[in-house]
Amino acid sequence: MQTVQIDRRGGFAATERVDQWWIGPAATAIGLVIFFGYLTLRAFNATYVWYDPYISPTVAPPVFTPASGYPGAVPVSHSWFGAFPSWWPPFLPQSPAFFLPALAIAFRLTCYYYRGAYYRAFGMTPPSCAVGGLPRRYRGETALLLFQNLHRYTLYGALLLLLFLWWEGLSAFFRGGRFGVGVGTIVMVVNAALLTGYTFGCHSWRHLIGGRLDCFTCDGAVSARYRPWQGASWLNERHMRFAWLSLVWVALTDLYIYLVSSGSIRDLNTW
Ligand code: FES
Repeated sequence: MQTVQIDRRGGFAATERVDQWWIGPAATAIGLVIFFGYLTLRAFNATYVWYDPYISPTVAPPVFTPASGYPGAVPVSHSWFGAFPSWWPPFLPQSPAFFLPALAIAFRLTCYYYRGAYYRAFGMTPPSCAVGGLPRRYRGETALLLFQNLHRYTLYGALLLLLFLWWEGLSAFFRGGRFGVGVGTIVMVVNAALLTGYTFGCHSWRHLIGGRLDCFTCDGAVSARYRPWQGASWLNERHMRFAWLSLVWVALTDLYIYLVSSGSIRDLNTW
């Protein structure tokens, strides 16, 4: 195997690489700013997040909902505990996104794939393999970054959230008790499916079901954990793809519901 010696004496972005190494971190930075930025804005603005029977993933499941003043808000009857309580701080917007949907942020923020991606795209120490980084002392994930160790626990929150998103997606086949299907139904179900692909490709999930086992067949029978571990491994190899597809689709699902709820477009459906 050929060994390539890398000259580390150069400054920032110094490299002997001849490929377009900067495209990856630049595209990652742009993508993260656009999609996380959009979803953050929507989380703080809980208007037009509902169009019966569709609900935006930015506010699902709704623990509380605004009783008034937010056009297109989730109806009080659909919220778990009704309207926002009187103790809710008046300087904060009344957004259901601040409750269970926030678990998705914690899950993505601490994801092994995203960590690598945003450390390179924004921290730039280094911005890519064999490329000079910003002059900072490497301290690993210590100090403030210790919270990254919570990823395995955020997985439990993400699994819980996934259940509710499937519930909302399947409930979107019914309007007023009548079965039917609309474009929004399909958009919501695809959203739940992509998030399932992302969540079950998680490294922590793969370890949870297949970890601490040296052999799946040593007791003479194939362990029941083998097939799920194989599935998780398949998804894990495609984790980056599912991370982006699911992120983009969450934003598109919200945008679609925003547009039909605000009357900008018409939902095609069978009801
Ligand atoms: Fe990406 Fe767990 S490693 S979600």
